[in-house]
Amino acid sequence: MFVWSRLSSAQWSDSWAERFSGHNGAVITVIPGRKTVRVELYCVEKREALTVQRQFGGTVRPVRSRNWAALRLELPPPVVVRNALLVSAASDKAKLAALAKANPRRTIISIPPDMAFGTGHHATTASVLRLLVDFSKSRKGQAWTLCDLGTGSGVLAIAAAKLGARDIYGCDFDPHAVRVALHNVKRNRAGGVRIEEADVLRWKSSQRYDCVAANLFSDVLIAAFPKIVRIMKPGGTVLVSGILKSQSAECLRAGEKAGLKFDTIITKGKWVTARGRREDFMP
Ligand SMILES: C[S@@+](CC[C@H](N)C(=O)[O-])C[C@H]1O[C@@H](n2cnc3c(N)ncnc32)[C@H](O)[C@@H]1O
Repeated sequence: MFVWSRLSSAQWSDSWAERFSGHNGAVITVIPGRKTVRVELYCVEKREALTVQRQFGGTVRPVRSRNWAALRLELPPPVVVRNALLVSAASDKAKLAALAKANPRRTIISIPPDMAFGTGHHATTASVLRLLVDFSKSRKGQAWTLCDLGTGSGVLAIAAAKLGARDIYGCDFDPHAVRVALHNVKRNRAGGVRIEEADVLRWKSSQRYDCVAANLFSDVLIAAFPKIVRIMKPGGTVLVSGILKSQSAECLRAGEKAGLKFDTIITKGKWVTARGRREDFMP
């Protein structure tokens, strides 16, 4: 048994928890009186610990005494999104078929935990998924396009494909997330989805979208809002998340300054998600 570990700023705790969700060897320790947390991942294989180290830095060391049997992988429960979708961590065909049988009105999406954000469990992903279902219903069968900035596991892009979007673009600046998203697109046979590695803050696009999903962080959103407004079609919708409650006023103000009007604001725990439109094209 080996443990990979590193220190991280406390503000990234949720991101680490989400990345390693489904892995029973993940431990996040709050260090009293400090703004850092210790993130550890206990792995049966040294190879696994070294892969995580290559990606995220930190150290790897062997561990001796522990009840390793308790660390077996258990899948988190599926995430149900209205009557439309069910996101499961299972990849096993029989389990997915059983879920489909038990949920005949929902499309099943398989996102096994794989160190990319976006299993559907995090409050930000769950809220955007719900708003995406609502958006798809508002299209009443008309084709629509989606741009997914910070795609992570690709869950939003895949959900859009299942909800009737035709032309879907997703990007992430984390090459591992891009690899995971591409696998997930293939695994779920999500048609019309293009994923690429790109930093939202440097990325340029001349295409315009009916819907832009941006589950990023406040500072990235604040910097990216003018660009987000430029890639929205007239009357288009933006779904933003990843905003801490304590930063939401400043973040949403920056969106309004860039030309957005927010009509729905959802707070779940410490996270805020909002739906906006281009103010110059309000219906
Ligand atoms: C909160 S996760 C969202 C993942 C997924 N879209 C979801 O809703 O669950 C944010 C993602 O954005 C990516 N990201 C953060 N800043 C970025 C940037 N400047 N350019 C591209 N991707 C970025 C991260 O790597 C991460 O995968």
